[in-house]
Amino acid sequence: MNIIGPDALAFGVDDVAASRAYLTAFGLDPVDVDETGGLFEALDGTGIIIRARNDPRLPAPIATATMLRQTTYGCADQATVDSIADELSRDRQIKRLDDGAIEAADDQGFALKFQVTKRRELKLAGEKINAPGDAPQRGVNKIGAWQDMPAKPRTLSHVVCFVPDLRPAEAFYVGRLGFKITDRFNNAGPFLRPAGTQDHHTLFFIETPPYMQGCEHFAFHMGGPTEMMMAGSRFVKAGYQSFWGPGRHKFGSNWFWYFNSPLGCHVEYDADMDLHDDEWSPREAVASPETSQVFLFENVEKWAPMGGPPPGAKGDGH
Ligand SMILES: [Fe+2]
Repeated sequence: MNIIGPDALAFGVDDVAASRAYLTAFGLDPVDVDETGGLFEALDGTGIIIRARNDPRLPAPIATATMLRQTTYGCADQATVDSIADELSRDRQIKRLDDGAIEAADDQGFALKFQVTKRRELKLAGEKINAPGDAPQRGVNKIGAWQDMPAKPRTLSHVVCFVPDLRPAEAFYVGRLGFKITDRFNNAGPFLRPAGTQDHHTLFFIETPPYMQGCEHFAFHMGGPTEMMMAGSRFVKAGYQSFWGPGRHKFGSNWFWYFNSPLGCHVEYDADMDLHDDEWSPREAVASPETSQVFLFENVEKWAPMGGPPPGAKGDGH
């Protein structure tokens, strides 16, 4: 099953205008967007679709409060989409769309769509660093950071879902769709990657009580940690609320910064995720503050030594 990863996530929201402002400020580009919503895409064409909660164009909601209504997976070719159709039609209804895509539900009731990926190939430089002991990556007279440097989400990276029962969730994605387990939090769930990508995870499950089933967060890859910090700092300045981060995860090694959103879930910038192939042996850990990140920062106001006591200092700092 040559599934590459999520092409799009569709949400049915309470406030289309607020969601539209949020996703635009996040750095996604509106495509065919009007007051009823539309697609907000990253540089490679992956993205987030928002509609009003009661919009009939969305698949039916599940029984919880989640606003996630459909996950669209991008596949390498039509043969992959057809083989998924053959596999899933053994035990469930599938719907074939005019363009060759198919729709079906997973074993938890999440609506899925499979299509030949709409991703555009990106030809962009990643972040480069100069480190003593290694050849310079960025080199002479090349500037590493500036205030208005570009920092746009490049591609939809992963989605994390609360599920009431891990076993059927894992069995469906591993057994029926060929996802691989890269690592596992024993008290939460597995990190999964489809066969068509080497990214550490495009999907992660957390087992929760049934009423919480839904999307916990989704994430977009940035061009590096500096872009992630720039985009997050701009998002804070635009008035959006940091939820967790910035920091760097242990499993996946990705830099992260999560924000609250009007989409009923958190939204993450991430950067520099580990890549894996079938030679990799999954690790296991108990999820905790210690295992969830190698370090965690706190975003504070800008400061300079000539500008009075440092942020958080008591007294005059002497
Ligand atoms: Fe994440």
